Amino acid sequence: MCGIVGVIGKSEASPVIFEALKRLEYRGYDSAGIATVENGQIDRRRVEGKLNNLGDALTTSPLPGKIGIGHTRWATHGAPTEQNAHPHVSSHVAVVHNGIIENFRDLRNELEAGGHTFASETDTEVVAHLVTAYLQEGKSHFEAARLAVARLEGAFALGIIFQGEEDLIVGARHGPPLAIGEGDGEMYLGSDAFALAPMTNRVCYLEDGDCAEIRHDAVTIIDADGNQVERPFTIMMASAQLVDKGNHRHFMAKEIHEQPEVLGHTISAYADPLQETIYLGRVPFDLAAVPKITISACGTAFYAAMVAKYWFEQLARVSVEIDIASEFRYREAAMPEGGLAIFVSQSGETADTLAALRYCAQNGQHVASIVNVVESTIGRESEVVFPIHAGPEIGVASTKAFTCQLMVLAALAIATARARKTIDDETETRLVRALTSVPRLTTETLGVAGQIEALAHDLASTRDILYFGRGLQYPIALEGALKLKEISYIHAEGYAGGELKHGPIALIDEQVPVIVIAPYDRLFDKTMSNMQEVIARGGRVVFMSDDKGLDHVGNDAWAKIRVPEADPFISPFLYTIPVQLLAYYTAVAKGTDADQPRNLAKSVTVE
Ligand code: G6P
Repeated sequence: MCGIVGVIGKSEASPVIFEALKRLEYRGYDSAGIATVENGQIDRRRVEGKLNNLGDALTTSPLPGKIGIGHTRWATHGAPTEQNAHPHVSSHVAVVHNGIIENFRDLRNELEAGGHTFASETDTEVVAHLVTAYLQEGKSHFEAARLAVARLEGAFALGIIFQGEEDLIVGARHGPPLAIGEGDGEMYLGSDAFALAPMTNRVCYLEDGDCAEIRHDAVTIIDADGNQVERPFTIMMASAQLVDKGNHRHFMAKEIHEQPEVLGHTISAYADPLQETIYLGRVPFDLAAVPKITISACGTAFYAAMVAKYWFEQLARVSVEIDIASEFRYREAAMPEGGLAIFVSQSGETADTLAALRYCAQNGQHVASIVNVVESTIGRESEVVFPIHAGPEIGVASTKAFTCQLMVLAALAIATARARKTIDDETETRLVRALTSVPRLTTETLGVAGQIEALAHDLASTRDILYFGRGLQYPIALEGALKLKEISYIHAEGYAGGELKHGPIALIDEQVPVIVIAPYDRLFDKTMSNMQEVIARGGRVVFMSDDKGLDHVGNDAWAKIRVPEADPFISPFLYTIPVQLLAYYTAVAKGTDADQPRNLAKSVTVE
């Protein structure tokens, strides 16, 4: 998660960019840099380390020019050196980037074969060379940028400036957010409105797939389909600028939509993209020697643990026990000496989870935690902390923290499997590649939002809703049901598909919608049979699957939600998105408060 800024001003750009970068430093501070255009020439200053170093460099060697872009980096591809710091340049352009470009290796090979010489190890540099290649073919600046962006795969936000062009910044968004600010004869670009707050309170947000041609007095936006579109500028209140909902009505919506970006951040913290291996940092015990794993958590975090149980057992062949923290601490669980106890908590302050942690610490377990707030009590009392890097989660119902918890648990399962030699290098590469594709595929999955919003209007008046899935989708069915009841107050239950016939099927009639989560995997046929049992009893099925699965269901389902086809390992990430959206839009249709549902609290510090 890096921070990017762009300015076309009436005065010197670099001091303005520097101030804006300070507000984005929370996104990363491994290195920083600014590039400007002055007398047609691109020039830049880049430094390793925090922004202060960039301030010193600019004092020693000021950077003139009324147009520029800046970056504060959280390293993903390539070490945090000056050489890898943004902006990256080629002979014609300078680029700043936030996110991951998945196909950079292929593009780099292609460009090197065409005579381009690379100066860094980053994925970003391919953008500079690709735009240059299109300029050399005679394309206009904006056209060259758009053609280059169309070749990129992954989740990214970009700011691009050009040699010889002092009135143009191109901004592009595919996943991570990007805001444009309008000043008095000046324009700004930033990773969030907060960064632009000192300069302007008139802000618009780019949508996914947008490319913006930003000039000092006008902005032209072309959407993913190549159509010119208007994105409304709105006035941000001072408080809104501090904790910003972007162009969303609720924090929950914003947090659902920012998952591609934060998941990119999480995977970057745990995977080496060049080696395609998992990297956990220092772990103060031997994962290969752990006789048993116990995972405790509450609420949504517990369902992340439930997914992890499948991953650990399938990949690392280690016995995993999972428990709701409030139950675990009182049931006097037997744990072998030297076992690993993992605690999953967004806040790191949940009283039940903390009590379970202390119980395990007293009973000879190694204690690891997976938290969003690293300085929390659970974080502080753990032998090792694996941060989820989700950023602040404001909506009471957890969304992005859940998928980021999944990402860390997946990395931990792979590392444990490698340590125990239950997977080979090839399998690790496949799994890491699959995890790296999650930001892109969640972006694609978010495309169902409009369809789900329409469906939610029909669901809002129902009294009960059932969810079911098998294998890795069983916990997602439980999470989907929890999300819906938390914020829409509709009674919802999640079940394992095979368990329906042992009781829940008695609930089904024409009034009960049933959400079936069924990727086309080895359990698909079994899930289909369970679905037929529901349809035979009049149940209205909302069927969530990939293209192959949707082909099989024909017209039997009442509604069909398409999720991209993917490696089964990462299916829980993708199927989480539609169940979150369904809960959110149903709450909006009912008029309940999605961000602050009744009776709940974000962090429960009492037993
Ligand atoms: C509360 C929240 C839930 C959350 C649970 C665990 O009940 O409303 O959204 O899943 O606590 O919180 P934690 O901070 O430990 O993940």
